[in-house]
Amino acid sequence: MKQITVSAPGKLMFMGEHAVVYGRPCLVTAVDQRIKVIAEILDKPQFELEAQDIGMNRYQKSLPDLAKGEVSKEAKFAEKAVYNFLTKNKISKGIKIITKSSFSVNLGFGSSSATVVGIVKALSELFNIKVSQKELFDLAYQTVLDVQRKGSGFDVAAGIYGGTIYFQNAGKIIESLTADGLNLTIGYSGVKADTVAMINSVESKMKNYKSGVEKIFDNIAKLVLEAKRAISEKDWERLGILMDYNQNYLEDLGVSSDKLNHMINAAKKAGAYGAKLSGAGGGDCMIALVSNENKLKVREEIEKVGGQVVDANINAPGVRVENL
Ligand code: PMV
Repeated sequence: MKQITVSAPGKLMFMGEHAVVYGRPCLVTAVDQRIKVIAEILDKPQFELEAQDIGMNRYQKSLPDLAKGEVSKEAKFAEKAVYNFLTKNKISKGIKIITKSSFSVNLGFGSSSATVVGIVKALSELFNIKVSQKELFDLAYQTVLDVQRKGSGFDVAAGIYGGTIYFQNAGKIIESLTADGLNLTIGYSGVKADTVAMINSVESKMKNYKSGVEKIFDNIAKLVLEAKRAISEKDWERLGILMDYNQNYLEDLGVSSDKLNHMINAAKKAGAYGAKLSGAGGGDCMIALVSNENKLKVREEIEKVGGQVVDANINAPGVRVENL
């Protein structure tokens, strides 16, 4: 039985969250915590899913029922990815998918989008269908939108391209950056963020105070552009300042939390160049830009205020086939 194994990286939003949903640019980096997807063709016309990390041992559905009826939240992304791929390529073969994650789904590293990217890549390999990175992006992003309705697609791009990227306009601009030397400490707040709820809260702010929020987004966009330059110049002091300004705007948008703020302040107190929340806010992770000299101290101070430092490297490779 032909089996394909691929892996896709998780992601960390570096700068530009929320504004990116409204057409502004963001910077995102892939992390070396990966989701593995194993795909195989079945003899019978059904879809099977095994995803033990999310407590899904043996989920089954007949092909004609795919993406119909009540679908458990956990299975939704995988099922829709398989459905979209089979429909687009007019294939009616049964498929089994196994997913294994090297990180907790609670961290906000984008396990759903990495799973979708992994599935689309694995199926195209399984059926020998050539897909460009852009085609892979389009199908995977469409799948995420089908399930979640909202989202900029930055996480899908990170899963596909890997490294550190400048991303804008639903993937119309995806630029890979050289970001070696970018040294981040990641602190988990212990709280799982609800991305869609946070996007909705910003949307209601936008409805009540459009010009003010648009202005914030424009300012964030300027910071992102400057940060892109600072990364290429390895100007970490400047980059840290830009991160701090970005965090201030995120607080103005009301998406930070006391816990995140404590962790961010602790990192700053320990000498980080800059620190901010990463992602939707309300929970998940914060990031601090550190040097080799203050890394340990930053870690200790984050832990002292109850944060959990996550050992992950950034700039990880994008989706790749692990066997052939
Ligand atoms: O919750 P996360 O880490 O997936 O980040 C969401 C970032 C947003 O800009 C708020 C949403 C998006 O899709 O860009």
